[in-house]
Amino acid sequence: MRTVLETVGNSPLIRLANLLKPNDAEILLKMERTNPGGSIKDRPALFIIEEAERRGWLKPGGTIIESSSGNFGISLAMIGAAKGYRVIVLVDPKTAPVNIAMMKAYGAEVIVVTEQDDSGSYHKTRISLANKLHREIPNSFRPDQCFNPWNGQAHYLLTAKELMEQCDQRLDVVVLTVSTGGQIGGISRFFKEHAPHVKIIAVDAVGSTIFSGKAHSYLLPGMGLSWTPTNIDDLNRIDEIYKVPDEDAFLMCRILAKYEGIMGGGSTGAGMVVAWKLSQILGSDKRIVCIAADNGERYLPTIYNDDWLKERGLRMYIHPDEMRVRVRGLQPYSVNPIETANYQPELEELLDSPSRLIKKEVL
Ligand SMILES: Cc1ncc(COP(=O)(O)O)c(C=O)c1O
Repeated sequence: MRTVLETVGNSPLIRLANLLKPNDAEILLKMERTNPGGSIKDRPALFIIEEAERRGWLKPGGTIIESSSGNFGISLAMIGAAKGYRVIVLVDPKTAPVNIAMMKAYGAEVIVVTEQDDSGSYHKTRISLANKLHREIPNSFRPDQCFNPWNGQAHYLLTAKELMEQCDQRLDVVVLTVSTGGQIGGISRFFKEHAPHVKIIAVDAVGSTIFSGKAHSYLLPGMGLSWTPTNIDDLNRIDEIYKVPDEDAFLMCRILAKYEGIMGGGSTGAGMVVAWKLSQILGSDKRIVCIAADNGERYLPTIYNDDWLKERGLRMYIHPDEMRVRVRGLQPYSVNPIETANYQPELEELLDSPSRLIKKEVL
């Protein structure tokens, strides 16, 4: 019988059964909700914690300190509970109450950071406070998901290999949503090395500036950042970038729930908008995989709540035939990703990221 942590990974691939027309390319969703913490973030969280243990950087009785508004913090809280570590997660006022409740249920301590950074978000202020606590608390470890190369490495070694095996090599496109870049950094490296014909499609939120562009606030949870993360170490490995508006992603979530019986989070909706567009133009002999990063139940009070959408001026319902046309009209934000770079190398120094040591030590 396996322990809870031994159930991380091996997520199923499921095929869309109802929305597609006969000439559409097949769409498979990789259901990361089956991880014990409920999202894809269990994979890098466990990988990073076990690498730190192997190197003696995290010892029994130690404390894990991380900045996360959601899934990564939940994964660390779950792993900390299973392994007996103290876990401190820095969140912000935008963090969904259900995420905070889950972290606390696993016994984590949660600190709400209220100071905004220069981009109007909380990423940088959360990260620098996490780094400060790490310096102050003895025997503490910072997974540092935004800068730690082990984040991408987890997906390179585990997620991508597993996906390739499940597809039995028959795969044409992988659609990935982006925040810390761990997924797209690791998975794109694996496919460009082992199956370079597979197209890698990045999906960001409209308003995020991972790939440059105009910054403004957006509602899509789990996606976006205000710089190109170092886990995306080579933009040439990405074939196309799309930016998806909040409303399209949320409408897609609701269609998936109602017409396919699949309840995903906002990033699953965003990824599916792009996967459905591509499926209409690629043809029925092609196969697209979209990573469904987490579970829709976390978003019952938001994406799946009519009042929440109405209050924000967003549509609550669209017929799948109309959505089909709407997604088809979405144009790529870039077909030459290298031109979209928004690297900010000074940030690691500025925020005093401990991953600078990891890079020196490991790479
Ligand atoms: C639900 C969800 N989707 C997508 C992502 C993006 O993944 P990555 O951070 O590996 O770029 C995240 C990251 O937090 C997430 O929580």
